[in-house]
This record gives sequence, C-alpha cells and structure tokens, in this order.
Amino acid sequence: MRFLGEAERHPPALRAVHWLTAGLVACLFATNWLREGSAHGSAIRKFWLQSHELAGCAVFGLTLLRLGLRLGLRKAGGTARPARMLHGVFYGFLLMLPVFGLLWALFGASAKIAFWTLPAPAARNPAVVDLASRIHSHVVAYVFLALIGIHGLAAAWHGLVRRDGVVRRMW
Ligand code: HEM
Ligand code: HEM
Repeated sequence: MRFLGEAERHPPALRAVHWLTAGLVACLFATNWLREGSAHGSAIRKFWLQSHELAGCAVFGLTLLRLGLRLGLRKAGGTARPARMLHGVFYGFLLMLPVFGLLWALFGASAKIAFWTLPAPAARNPAVVDLASRIHSHVVAYVFLALIGIHGLAAAWHGLVRRDGVVRRMW
C-alpha cells in the first residue's frame, strides 16, 4: 500500500473532525441503547441520557466548525456526485438531530441538559415535545444509521476493490 503525501490528502483539520464526529455518533447510539437498557428512574439511566446529550451537543458544534472549515480549506481530489449528495444529507442529519434532541430535552424531560442545570427551566410544552420526539425518533435516527452503513460500504469498495486512494486521503 502506498501512503499518500500530505498534498494528496484532505486537510488535517477536516480529517480530524470527520473521525471525531464518527466516534461521537457511535457514542450517541451506544449511550441511547445503554439508557434504554437501564432501570427507569435510576441514576445510571440519567447518566446515559446526559452523556448522550453532551455528545450530541459536541456533534452539533463540530458540524458547524466543519462546515466553516470546508469553506476555507481546499479538499483533495474530486468526489462523485452521488457521494456529494449523500454527504449533504449527512450534514442535514448532523444539524437536525441535535436541534430537535435539544428541544425534546428542553421542553419535555428535565431542567438538566448534559450536566448543566438550566438557570430558568423552560416550561413543559407537549406540542413541542411531540414534534421534536417525532423528528428525533428511532425511525429518523435509524435511517441515518442505514446511510452511515452505505457510506461505510462505499468506503470499503473504494479501499478494497477500486484502491483509488479515496479512503487513504481521509486517513
Ligand atoms: C447526531 C445527534 C444525535 C443522535 C444520532 C441521537 C439519537 C437518538 C436516538 C436514536 C434516540 C431514541 C429516540 C426514541 O426514543 O425514539 C434519542 C433520544 C433522545 N435524545 Fe438524542 N441524538 C442526538 C443528539 C441529541 C442531543 C444534542 C440531545 C439534547 C441535548 C438529545 C437528547 C435526546 C433526548 C432527550 C432523547 C429522549 C430520551 C427519552 O426518551 O427520555 N439527543 N436520541
Ligand atoms: C458517523 C459516521 C460518519 C459520518 C457522519 C460521516 C460523514 C462524512 C461526510 C459528511 C463526509 C464528506 C466530507 C466533506 O466533503 O466535507 C465524509 C467523507 C468520507 N468518509 Fe465518512 N462519515 C462517517 C463514517 C465513516 C466511516 C466509518 C468511514 C470508513 C470506513 C468513512 C469514510 C469516509 C471517506 C473515505 C470520506 C472521503 C470521501 C471523499 O474524499 O470524497 N466515513 N464522511
């Protein structure tokens, strides 16, 4: 395997943010499954929810940073149109899921978001919670997960079959 030179790879900041985001998204699903598997009302259930919220807020911040970086940095090589479209959809999920998760937490669950107690807890609002929980639901999150699976398979195809350097430039 030939290692690519720095000029042939995506800028280090974009690579770092890509893998950090991928790791945090894995944590988001893991913390959600761990929360669902723990006893209602227990301290550990609360801990998993708060960890989930914290990781979700970090994903939101990183995605804003990443979109800003993309405007200012030159990416390596070209990307096929279907992949560009899928990446665009990813950015949509990476922004939309945290916003509606935050609304769900703020207007439904508790005054404590990701280890911070809000200074003035927002009033519970069932209409906002209903909308936010529909959008921030298993169904939507699992569509996102399925697309991540397709993205991973496409990366495997590039890396193992085509061997065209698309994976190595993100490494
Ligand atoms: C990319 C980011 C995120 C992903 C992939 C994600 C994923 C999920 C999933 C799969 C569920 C279960 C949904 C269900 O029960 O139908 C969930 C629940 C939840 N998430 Fe997220 N989430 C993200 C970000 C956030 C953020 C930023 C917050 C808040 C700060 C948040 C707060 C919540 C809350 C409050 C619940 C409901 C917990 C309950 O049922 O009591 N999420 N999330
Ligand atoms: C939560 C998981 C993931 C998310 C949300 C995600 C998201 C993205 C996004 C948005 C891009 C486009 C970057 C840009 O042009 O700004 C991208 C590129 C890329 N991703 Fe992922 N990714 C994830 C996981 C993975 C995994 C597991 C792999 C490999 C096994 C992978 C391999 C790649 C590669 C090789 C590129 C570069 C494509 C190119 O240069 O045209 N990603 N990813």
